[in-house]
Amino acid sequence: MTGRTVMIGSIVALASSLLLARAHPFGDARLDETPQQLQPIMQHASIPNAVRTTLESKCIDCHSIQPRLPFYARLAPISWLVERDIVEGRKAMNLSQWNSYSTDEQDAFREKILLETRSHKMPLPQYRLIHRGSIVTTPEIDAIARWVDDSSTPDPGTLNQEVSIAADAARGKDVFQHRCTGCHSLDQNREGPHLRGVYGREAGSVTGFDYSTALKQSHIHWDEHSLERWLTDPDAFVAGNNMDFHVVKPQERADVIAFLKTMP
Ligand code: HEC
Ligand code: HEC
Repeated sequence: MTGRTVMIGSIVALASSLLLARAHPFGDARLDETPQQLQPIMQHASIPNAVRTTLESKCIDCHSIQPRLPFYARLAPISWLVERDIVEGRKAMNLSQWNSYSTDEQDAFREKILLETRSHKMPLPQYRLIHRGSIVTTPEIDAIARWVDDSSTPDPGTLNQEVSIAADAARGKDVFQHRCTGCHSLDQNREGPHLRGVYGREAGSVTGFDYSTALKQSHIHWDEHSLERWLTDPDAFVAGNNMDFHVVKPQERADVIAFLKTMP
C-alpha cells in the first residue's frame, strides 16, 4: 500500500467512526444534553476535602452527571464502551444525586466506595488504562477509610446505648447483605470465609480458606458473646487477624448475630 491510500483509509475510518458515534448500541448516556459546566458533587454532604478531590478526579466520569470526556470517547466504537460504563456506573451510584439517597443508602455507599477502591475494582481497569494515574493510592484509601469510620460513629448520646429492641434475624439479614457480602457469602469462600453455620463453629476452621495464623490459633468458639466482641473490634479481640472491618452500632451487631444463628 502507498502512503496515500493509508492516509485516505484513515480519514475514511475516522469519518465513519464519528458518524457511528451517533449510535448508542449499549445505552445512551445523553452526553449531548448534560450541562457543560462541572456540577459540584455531594453538595451539603459532610465529606473531607481530600476524599471529595479523589472522587472528583477519579470517579465522577462514570458516577455523576457531568460532561468531562476525552475526545476519543466520542469516536465509535470506543464511545459505545465508554457510554455503557457511564450508564451502568450512574445506575449503580450517582454522586450528583447523593442528597436524594436515604441515610442508610449513603452509609451503604460509603462502605462500598471503600471496598471498591481498596480492592482496586474501581475505577474500572479499562478506565485506568486510558487515564494514567487514576488508580486510587494508599493515602487516598486511608482517607476514605477514616471518612467511613467517622461517618458511621454514632453521636455521643448513643455511643453507650444498649441494644434497644430485641435482636431480629430479619433485620440482621439486611445488615448482612449491606455490610458483609462485600467480602463474605453464606456458602462460598471469598475474601472472607463462608458464613453459613459459623454460629457454633470453631474459629478458623473452614477448609480451603486461607485464614490468618492469629485466627487459626485463637481457639475461639463462635457464639453470641465471641461474635459480639469480634464484630465490635476484631483487632482488640484477635490481634493480627485479617478482617479489616467492624460494625459500630450495637443494634446492628445483635441483629446480624441473630441472623447468623438462623443459618445452620
Ligand atoms: C469508567 C467508568 C467508571 C469509573 C471511572 C468508576 N466507576 Fe464505579 N462503577 C462503574 C460501573 C460500570 C459500575 C457498575 C458495574 C460494576 O459494579 O462493575 C460501577 C459500580 C461502582 C460501585 C458499586 C455500587 C454497588 O451498588 O455495588 C461503587 C461503590 C463504585 N463503582 C465506586 C467507584 C469509585 C469510588 C470510583 C473512583 C475511585 C469509581 N467507581 C470509578 C464504572 C466506573
Ligand atoms: C473487608 C472484608 C470483610 C468484611 C466487610 C467482613 N468480613 Fe468477616 N472476615 C473477613 C476476613 C478476611 C476474615 C478472615 C479473618 C482472618 O483470617 O483473620 C473474616 C472472618 C470472619 C469471621 C470468622 C469466621 C471463621 O470461620 O472463623 C466471622 C464470624 C466474620 N468474618 C463475620 C463477619 C460479619 C458478620 C460481617 C458483616 C457484619 C463481616 N464479617 C464483614 C473479611 C471481612
